Amino acid sequence: MYNLLKGKRGIITGALDENSIAWRVALKAKEEGATFTLTNAPIALRMGKIKQLADECNTIVIPADATLVEDIEKLYQQSMEHLGGKIDFLLHSIGMSPNVRKDRPYNDLNYDWFLKTLDISALSFHKLMQVGEKADALNEKASIVALSYIAAQRTFPDYGDMAQAKAMLESIARSYGYKLGKSKKIRVNTISQSPTPTTAGTGISGFDVFLEYAEKMSPLGNATADDCANYVITLFSDLTEKVTMQNLYHDGGFSAMGISEEIVAQFGK
Ligand code: NAI
Repeated sequence: MYNLLKGKRGIITGALDENSIAWRVALKAKEEGATFTLTNAPIALRMGKIKQLADECNTIVIPADATLVEDIEKLYQQSMEHLGGKIDFLLHSIGMSPNVRKDRPYNDLNYDWFLKTLDISALSFHKLMQVGEKADALNEKASIVALSYIAAQRTFPDYGDMAQAKAMLESIARSYGYKLGKSKKIRVNTISQSPTPTTAGTGISGFDVFLEYAEKMSPLGNATADDCANYVITLFSDLTEKVTMQNLYHDGGFSAMGISEEIVAQFGK
C-alpha cells in the first residue's frame, strides 16, 4: 500500500455489512494508515455487522442518526476524544427512501416519506458539515466526500424520490464546498458511483437490470464497491487538494455514453 492516509483521522458513516461501499472504504483507509471512527443509525447497529468491522479496524462504533443534530454533535465529540484530535476526512455514505422501499410509484408518493428521504439522504450531509464546522471539529485541508448516483441528472424511473435527494446532495456539496474552501481550504465532493450490489442498491426494483445495462454501456464495466473505495481514498489523500465542489463520475465511462455495441447487438437480435 501507499500510506496515503498516514496520520489522518476520519469519520466513516454508513457501513452496514461487507457489501456496503463504506465498509470497503473503511478497510482501505485502515490499509492506508488512517485512524477513524465508524457510525451508523442505532437501528442499523442492531441489524448490521458493524461491530465486526470495528474489531477488524481496531476502532469504535458511535451510534448516530444522521438526521439528528444532537447525535451528530456527540459523534464529533466522541470521535475527537477517541482519535485524539480534529477530523481530516469524512465519508457520507447514507441513503434511504421509504417511498422506494415500499414501492410507491413516482406519481403516488407519500409526502411525509418524501421529506424523510430528503432528510436522511441529503440534508444529513449539510448537517454533518454544519455541526462539524460549528464544533470546530474539522482540520484545515480536510476532505469530505458523499456518494451520489446519475439519477440526479437523468431519469431512471424506479429510482423514485431518491433522484431529488441525490440532486440536492450534489448541490449541497457545491454550496458548502464554497464556504469550507474559503474558511479552511476544506474540499467537498460527491462521487457518482456505478450501480453496486449493496442493501441500498438492491432495494431498488429492477436493480439487476440497472446493473447489467450499466455494465454493457460502460467501456470499463461497472465500478465495484472496492473500486469506489480506492477513488474515495485518493480524494481523502493529499494528492487531490485542489479538487472541490465537483460531482465526480466513477462509473466506467457510463455517463459519457450514448449507446454501446453490446446494447446495439442485443436489440438487433
Ligand atoms: P448500504 O445499504 O450498505 O448503505 C446505506 C447506509 O445508510 C446503511 O448503512 C444505513 O444504515 C445508512 N442509513 C440509513 N438511514 C440512516 C440514518 N438515518 N442515519 C445514519 N445512517 C443511515 O448501501 P450502499 O450502496 O453502500 O450506500 C451508500 C451510499 O452510496 C448511499 O448514499 C447510496 O445512495 C450511494 N450509492 C449507491 C449505489 C448503489 O448502487 N448501491 C450507487 C450510487 C450511489
